[in-house]
Amino acid sequence: MRYAPVTEALADLGGAKWAVHARGRAMAAAGRDVIELTIGEPDVPPPAVLVEAMAEAARTGRTAYSSGRGEAGLLDALADRYSARMGRAIGPDQFLCVPGTQTALYVAMQGLVGAGDEVLVADPLYATYEGVIRAAGAAMVPVPLDPAAGFRLDPAAFAARVTARTRAILLNSPHNPTGTVATRDEVRAIGTVAAAHDLWIVSDEVYEELIFDGPFASPFAEPALAERTVVVSSISKSHAAPGLRSGWIAAPAEAAARLLPVAETMLFGNQPFIADATALAVAGPSAVAGEMRRAYAARADLLAGRLAGGSLRVHRPEAGMFALVDVGGTGMDGDAYAADLLDAQGVSVMPGSAFGSVLRDWVRVALTVPDAALGAACDRMTAHAAALQSA
Ligand SMILES: Cc1ncc(COP(=O)(O)O)c(C=O)c1O
Repeated sequence: MRYAPVTEALADLGGAKWAVHARGRAMAAAGRDVIELTIGEPDVPPPAVLVEAMAEAARTGRTAYSSGRGEAGLLDALADRYSARMGRAIGPDQFLCVPGTQTALYVAMQGLVGAGDEVLVADPLYATYEGVIRAAGAAMVPVPLDPAAGFRLDPAAFAARVTARTRAILLNSPHNPTGTVATRDEVRAIGTVAAAHDLWIVSDEVYEELIFDGPFASPFAEPALAERTVVVSSISKSHAAPGLRSGWIAAPAEAAARLLPVAETMLFGNQPFIADATALAVAGPSAVAGEMRRAYAARADLLAGRLAGGSLRVHRPEAGMFALVDVGGTGMDGDAYAADLLDAQGVSVMPGSAFGSVLRDWVRVALTVPDAALGAACDRMTAHAAALQSA
């Protein structure tokens, strides 16, 4: 049988990235003591009031079809939240409700770019970005971030990679996997590049609520950039609720109208009972985000403190659920190190190669395990590094 080109375009993006994770899981299932630091799932439950609101809504009949754009109550709640945060009126017609940031990214790319187009993305990057770009027929153009410069955005590097085919910049702040938070000046400078070449900015803001300290800057908050900005976000991280699959697109009204049929064609609306809980979630501050911010910041310090002075070098994140560790000092690249660490010490981490080419000599460590488990993982990593050095 023949398959569509999209299956070819995505074929090499899947399983290999998760090989260490899958092997760690299999070893744990077979009885081996494995500390899993690969994927980042919030390690606190979602706020009980959210779960109760969802259950109550389901019990009281909020299980019928929704509209393609989303439930009116959620659209209003999003409009209120964004109006307050952006300091200008944002209408309900500027939103589309979709199952998670991932779907929002997919819809945005389907609606904004196509065959032959190029999308600029900082490298390192979140693991699914290349797939959503390729699925739209476009090509991802990585823009390397310099580890020595703290993985900060370099607007000149973006400008240097613009061609006649460039249509969009996919921005992610706070950033996964580096944990870097773009400053307002950096966002504006990227915006200057976008404006000079008439590019869209797709802004993945899913970690907005997990900044340890300091302000959040969004291109959507800049009046000069708002007309070219499409925000994608969700309650997956802010409310420790990734399984609810509840996210949204915030965009100029015209862009939202153009993206609506794309979302409708995929989804035929979403789930009213989840929309009700999400409306409640976005109406006020998250009851669990503060707890996560404190825990992940403290664990990043714990990791950096415990590994200090050895051959492993920790890049301290400013936000999010992950820390990067430079393992080049062991003489191994990230792939070899992650495989060897799992075999030798039963600790599973993500090889940096899963997040682009810049992190070849790095691994990503999830901070979403209890302090004691992370401390034990540090001991094992230290023992492993020492054994490598004396070998
Ligand atoms: C940068 C980034 N974007 C998007 C997602 C997907 O988020 P969601 O659960 O809202 O689909 C993730 C999940 O880890 C992420 O790290």
